[in-house]
Amino acid sequence: MCLMDSSWVIDGHDIATAFDLSRFKSIVDVGGCSGALARVMAKAYPASTLMVLDLPKVIQMTQKHFCQSDDTIKFQAGDFFEEDLPAADLYILARIIHDWKEEKSLMLLKKIHAACGGVLVVEAMLFENHRGPIMAQLFSLNMLVQTEGKEHPPSHYTHMLTTAGFTDVQVCRTGKTYDAVLALK
Ligand SMILES: C[S@@+](CC[C@H](N)C(=O)[O-])C[C@H]1O[C@@H](n2cnc3c(N)ncnc32)[C@H](O)[C@@H]1O
Repeated sequence: MCLMDSSWVIDGHDIATAFDLSRFKSIVDVGGCSGALARVMAKAYPASTLMVLDLPKVIQMTQKHFCQSDDTIKFQAGDFFEEDLPAADLYILARIIHDWKEEKSLMLLKKIHAACGGVLVVEAMLFENHRGPIMAQLFSLNMLVQTEGKEHPPSHYTHMLTTAGFTDVQVCRTGKTYDAVLALK
């Protein structure tokens, strides 16, 4: 968890400000783990409420070891495949899509499309020809070994998001390790 959190110390601000998200007053970080990215988002958008949804065991561990006395973010235990998502104006999916086979990712994106107005997908995105960046290639290798998924170029996320029903899809290459795609209905 600490290792994953450190990504958002380095890249969190670039992700939070890749788009102006101030119109979204309630934001849920789906599979948000210990809340590292949600805390960066809460700092960037102090008028918005931030909630992290993750599996019960992860939320338990987070509340024991990662919660801060001045935390403004809330945590909720749940399964994003099995249960309804908490209501929100915007959902964040950071390093979630790359874990799963396409049909599962699509199931989640369709659920999010039915529930809200927007989704921010955050991943280390490959070049369109898949020949870099080296970090995204290495992450993809790691995903192929450890999960059902892999890394993709922006066009793949755009295609999945439009298949799920989103119409307005914008990609932001941050120039750092992680990039963002904002999709609206
Ligand atoms: C690769 S980690 C990404 C964590 C965080 N979004 C980040 O970027 O630091 C994937 C997260 O998804 C959570 N997760 C996996 N399956 C889940 C499910 N069915 N429901 C809720 N959370 C889930 C894991 O517990 C984990 O925290």
